[in-house]
Formats: sequence, structure tokens, C-alpha cells
Amino acid sequence: MKSILENREGLAREIDKVAEVASYLWQKGWAERNGGNITVNITEYVDDEIRKMHAISEVFPIGKRLPFLKDCYFYCKGTNMRMRDLARHPMENGSVIKIIDDCASYVIIADNPVRPTSELPSHLSVHNYLLSINSPYKASVHTHPIELVAMSHNKRFLEKDVASHLLWSMIPETKAFCPKGLGIVPYLLPGSVELADATIKELSDYDVVMWEKHGVFAVDSDVMQAFDQIDVLNKSALIYIAAKNMGFEPDGMSDEQMKEMSLAFNLPK
Ligand code: 13P
Ligand code: ZN
Repeated sequence: MKSILENREGLAREIDKVAEVASYLWQKGWAERNGGNITVNITEYVDDEIRKMHAISEVFPIGKRLPFLKDCYFYCKGTNMRMRDLARHPMENGSVIKIIDDCASYVIIADNPVRPTSELPSHLSVHNYLLSINSPYKASVHTHPIELVAMSHNKRFLEKDVASHLLWSMIPETKAFCPKGLGIVPYLLPGSVELADATIKELSDYDVVMWEKHGVFAVDSDVMQAFDQIDVLNKSALIYIAAKNMGFEPDGMSDEQMKEMSLAFNLPK
């Protein structure tokens, strides 16, 4: 059977990046069993031949109407599929879906009828939001980074911007590469429309949001950059925990040092 990636260099490159990030998520211990999911808006790579492809599944409801997604195409990790398997075989552990005219349902078009992630309501709501604000962001990553999730078990870190300021102050690059910080979504049922709605609300101010006691959700231009934002935040969490394990509360960079840094890198205050 011919893969949708065949003779489509641009699309194949995006899926290669998804596979590479999936292997990082597994290596970092953030992707136990089927944990985490990735979706990428691939509509820019869709040609006439793809447009003519027939559905290989029934029509599935999204659970929400998302008007900006009309005729959009997404690569989605499959539900219950493992990141470590997706890293080697992205088109067997994920699929390409097309949003149909009612903007409230989708069909699978390639390569195999692999049912998309259970977090599809959140991923698609986010892509709909990104298109509504003309954002260049195309990829979203949900994963379970150990140290960041551990921090979300403490109420203090769930207060607005408390975790962001602490994480930024651990090492200068964190603010440079995750300038908006970490938004917080209070615990909600995985896979629910309520979680999707709470996520898009937070994403108007942040690129990465914490799902309390569950994981994080990040958006960026491509999957590699979404991963990088989570990686720098989790690195800071590791430094904080290492200091605590040595028996002291880390000082963190001073307000002066943070200000100097923000100015030099042209970051928001
Ligand atoms: P899926 O296997 O359905 O993608 O679910 C994994 C997950 O992390 C749910 O939050
Ligand atoms: Zn999850």
C-alpha cells in the first residue's frame, strides 16, 4: 500500500519530526505506555490528490463545532498507541484525519484506520483557536513530564505565575526560550470538552499550560519547538529539585538579573 508520505517531501519531513520528538518523550520517561499525544496541522501540504482521497473510516464526532477547521487536515497520534512505537512507525501508530464540512466531525483518510488520540477535543480546539487568531503555530504536544507534574501537586505552584517565576529564575535560558511561562489548568477529566475549553482559555496568554496532576500541553510553530518549550521548563524544575535534595531552597536569579536578562533578550517584562 502506498503511504501518503510517498513523494511528499515537506509532509514527510514534518512526520519525521513527530517521530523524533516521540523518541525524546519516551527517553525522558515522560511517555509511559500510551501517555501523551501529538497533533500537527498539515493542511499546507495537502494537494489535489490528497483532497480526492476517500475516507477509510466512518464519520466520528469531535464533540464540539470548530468553524476554523473546515477542510483542515491533521496528523494525530493514535489513541492507546505508544510514543516509543510511534518513534519507529509514525504511520502505524497515528493517522491523517480530515475535518468535514459540518466542522464538528472528522474522517480518517490515511494510511491506516488508526483512531486518533482521546485528547482530540483539546488538540482540535487548540488548532481552531490558533487559526482564529492567525497564529503561525501548527503543532501541539501533550506529555507527562515527571518533575513538572510533581510540582502541580502543590497548591502554591498552581497560583497564577508562581511556577513561571520560580522556573524562570533557575537558569537564564528558561525565560529566553519559554518567554510566556507556564499557564495553569485546574484538574479536569482527561479527554473532556471541559479540559479542551479550559486549555484554549489559558493558551491566549501562554504557549505551555500545566494540566494539574496530569501533564502539560504546549503549542509552537512545529513539534520540535513545542517540545523545546516543555524541555526547558522541566530542566528548571530539575534544577529546583536538585537544590532541594541538597538540603536548601535555591536563591534563584535576583529580580535585577531577571530584568537585565529580559531587556537583553527583548522579552516581555
Ligand atoms: P491517548 O493514548 O488517547 O493519546 O491518551 C494518552 C493521554 O496522555 C491522555 O491524556
Ligand atoms: Zn495525558
